Amino acid sequence: MQSTPNINQFIPDTFTKLAYQGLQESKKIFSVAHKTISNRIADIIVPERNGKTKPLSPATLAKLQEQAKILQETDWQDAQVGVYPSELLFDNFWGDFFRYYPEVWLDLPKIWSKFQNKEYQKFDPEIDREGYPSYYLQNFHYQTNGYLSDLSANLYDLQVEILFNGSADAMRRRILKPLKQGLQAFLDIPASQIRVLDVACGTGRTLKMIRSALSKASLFGTDLSPAYLRKANELLSEIPGELPQLLQGNGENLPYTDNYFHGITSVFLFHELPPNARQQVIEECYRMLQPGGTLVICDSMQVSDSPDFQTIMDNFPIMYHEPYYKHYTTDNIEERLSQARFVDIRTKNHFVSKYWIARKDK
Ligand SMILES: C[S@@+](CC[C@H](N)C(=O)[O-])C[C@H]1O[C@@H](n2cnc3c(N)ncnc32)[C@H](O)[C@@H]1O
Repeated sequence: MQSTPNINQFIPDTFTKLAYQGLQESKKIFSVAHKTISNRIADIIVPERNGKTKPLSPATLAKLQEQAKILQETDWQDAQVGVYPSELLFDNFWGDFFRYYPEVWLDLPKIWSKFQNKEYQKFDPEIDREGYPSYYLQNFHYQTNGYLSDLSANLYDLQVEILFNGSADAMRRRILKPLKQGLQAFLDIPASQIRVLDVACGTGRTLKMIRSALSKASLFGTDLSPAYLRKANELLSEIPGELPQLLQGNGENLPYTDNYFHGITSVFLFHELPPNARQQVIEECYRMLQPGGTLVICDSMQVSDSPDFQTIMDNFPIMYHEPYYKHYTTDNIEERLSQARFVDIRTKNHFVSKYWIARKDK
């Protein structure tokens, strides 16, 4: 017998979907407006920026929009089938907006000045730069004090959401499905004994999502920035469940024992690493994973899978000071994973991001 659709279920889903679409649209409109206004002002104050980047063609803009829509639908569908709860789709953009948006504007003149004066490694004297790899001591995105200040940590999430027109979290969430699928290899282990590490966890947004999708797992996050870890601690302390363990460390060389984790993730790290550090982080993930464990990497799209977006990939490192990005866009990460002995290597693209899913052989 054919089952009748449950109207009570249908109505809330329709409203929730409309609310989600409305939220995404509002984030997009706001992000585009912010970038348009701030770029116009920058063109007056820093005219040297003109001519350095190329405009996007109408065809590229249309394709971007199409890919953003597909990402949104995938995000919605994954919540519908229970990869993560629907509440995650509504996680805190406007909260951060009201708190930090004025500071985004206040920081812009410093960003323009660094652009104008080609100051790529400028840090205030009070910032302690001891012990960090030299490749890390950069004003990535022209951020004031790079990753090493509380102001930078406070503004980061909002700046990234604006950069991706409100789709940054939707791209981060795409790691959850392959991670959960990979963890199926450990069904014989109690959920609370599953250990997942997020390498370069930043302000903790990905860990928050993993907590939502895997309520019982033991979560770990590591990052080089004490300021970003402080921010992550603040964010993660707000959510119920066991607090993820945060540790300051270099993803190239972490203090965890061999074979410790069942899953490892890393989001938006690899394009900020020079090639040898990329390889080293992959080797380190291999060492820390249990046999049968899964690594999921999310980062920018690359030239080979998105030739239509070449202009975006050319503009990005100019606008945002990303010294290792150009090399990253043509780097063969699959080969790096194979070299580290990963198997079952798969890739996937969503909007302007790319994913590598790989397993450590049993
Ligand atoms: C673009 S942010 C990504 C942060 C976060 N994963 C996200 O989704 O927003 C890059 C992060 O990588 C961290 N990072 C860069 N190099 C690192 C390294 N070698 N080891 C650990 N963390 C690193 C930075 O401190 C920063 O938090």
